[in-house]
Amino acid sequence: MSSPYTLINDAPLDRHNSFRVPARATLLAEVTAAEALPGLLALPAVRGKPLLVLGDGSNVLFTRDFDGLVIIVAACGIEILEDDGASARIRASAGENWNGLVRWSLTQGLCGLENLALIPGRVGAAPIQNIGAYGVEVAETLLSVEAFDRTTGKSVCLSREQCGFRYRDSVFKQQPERWIITAIALRLQRNAPLKLDYAGVREELAAMSVTQPTATNVADAVCRLRLRKLPDPAVIGNAGSFFKNPVVANEETQKLQAAHPGLPVFNAPDGKKLSAAWLIESCGWKGFREGDAGVSEKHALVLVNHGKASGAQLWSLAARIRDSVQGQFGVQLEPEPRIL
Ligand code: EPU
Repeated sequence: MSSPYTLINDAPLDRHNSFRVPARATLLAEVTAAEALPGLLALPAVRGKPLLVLGDGSNVLFTRDFDGLVIIVAACGIEILEDDGASARIRASAGENWNGLVRWSLTQGLCGLENLALIPGRVGAAPIQNIGAYGVEVAETLLSVEAFDRTTGKSVCLSREQCGFRYRDSVFKQQPERWIITAIALRLQRNAPLKLDYAGVREELAAMSVTQPTATNVADAVCRLRLRKLPDPAVIGNAGSFFKNPVVANEETQKLQAAHPGLPVFNAPDGKKLSAAWLIESCGWKGFREGDAGVSEKHALVLVNHGKASGAQLWSLAARIRDSVQGQFGVQLEPEPRIL
């Protein structure tokens, strides 16, 4: 039987981060079976080392080499655990491609993931920052997460409530050294109402001449929107939105709106969510470039690597953007990807 993991010393990470910045890891392990994790983590060369779990590296910025163990969970498989005709409970392993899971669910006649089509990355990364797009977050259909808990050395199954999901946040993001996600379970419906209210979705369906949309039509519309509005990481290095949309108190929002009537504002559970892209564009950063580090011409929230930018250069550009938004609007931006 082939080994359930491979271990490489002094491994290049260039191909394992979608910014495509150069960085190296002391050790890189690719694990094809979740059961192999306890054995791997008990190896003397590995024990006690700082740990970083990577999927496709589509939400991470390396500002330097990583002195520790990088684990890539490459275990694959998607199965229907239970299907009562109206809905199905499915399980997907962490190493599956996210968009592959979305498309698979649609071919099974299951909906709920269509608005999340084409989000880069693997299934195991989806719960970490509670991926979301076009008015939907993965937490809405997620039932549970299987993960290896490094503090106890045991595999556990966490319910949705235990995952502590919030906007782009979860217990996995809060304690990144603790959890290694190995699989997720979702409940998907056969006949749920489609979510078409996010700006641009209905217009895109109309442009496709679709009058009675199916979930697959919605996924196609979302793909068209994303391809048009966001730079493609296969073409130009990026990690999607570089900052979270800031959530600010209602009172502060009113003051900002009075001073800046064009500022897009969305409802959030604990205040109002402001458009970080609008704030950044207003400070003049959209399309900015210095050397190979820049801000996308397509979307002000996306930092891009035009070729040979280092992570440190991108991070220093991010700091300048954050300071200028703070200076002009008094709003604090927080990075969305993990900064290492
Ligand atoms: N806008 C600008 N300038 C720009 C782009 C957008 O002013 O260059 C303004 C527009 O007014 C637009 C508003 O910002 O109406 C919102 O833009 P968009 O619909 O693109 O959404 P976003 O808030 O910028 C969020 C997610 C994206 C997700 C989109 C669509 C975050 C941090 N980002 O972006 O997620 O694709 O909504 O749902 O919440 C990601 O997380 O990596 C990501 C790409």
